Amino acid sequence: MTNTNELYANYSLCVNSPFLGSTVCELGGGMTCLAGLMIAVCADVKEVLLSDGNEKAIQTIILSSFRVVRWDNEADMSTLEGRFDVVMCADCLFLDQYRGSLVDALRRLLRPDGTALVFAPTRGDTLAEFCRLAESAGLRVCRYDNYDSHLWDLHLKVCTVCVCGFYCVCKCFKVSES
Ligand SMILES: C[S@@+](CC[C@H](N)C(=O)[O-])C[C@H]1O[C@@H](n2cnc3c(N)ncnc32)[C@H](O)[C@@H]1O
Repeated sequence: MTNTNELYANYSLCVNSPFLGSTVCELGGGMTCLAGLMIAVCADVKEVLLSDGNEKAIQTIILSSFRVVRWDNEADMSTLEGRFDVVMCADCLFLDQYRGSLVDALRRLLRPDGTALVFAPTRGDTLAEFCRLAESAGLRVCRYDNYDSHLWDLHLKVCTVCVCGFYCVCKCFKVSES
């Protein structure tokens, strides 16, 4: 599990409104799908589908609402097309070969007025590249670095003693995209 997923879980504890009464899908949730699980537990949602492209992930998540969903698989996409108010993912932007498929998956799985909530560290140019691809696909992109004053204060405090590899200024940012 990445610290991005932990941050997403923390975000879902603090913020209920984007999820109120909505159908939610987590893409690339990994072995824990922690962010999606927190939303299922803490927010007033109608439905949460947890997913990952790796079928081994399902072995750790004993839930009927988990399924294998590959962003680059046409059958997976067409089955779920237009079903979700919110599609979320954490730390999934760094895979160069799948970034385009992920943008396409977000666009296709969302309802026309839906919102993708994407948490991601900058990881070189990968975040910027994702935003560029998303805009080219017709999505409106809004980026927030400081979305929670408490977390931001902690971030600044740790950054003053930042040793790259332990906690790095280039990690742990959220991007919201709609
Ligand atoms: C760095 S992990 C992030 C996991 C989790 N969200 C977290 O933050 O701990 C990236 C995830 O993307 C999934 N993934 C990679 N390519 C994929 C694809 N084409 N379709 C679906 N999932 C994919 C991987 O299986 C992996 O679980």
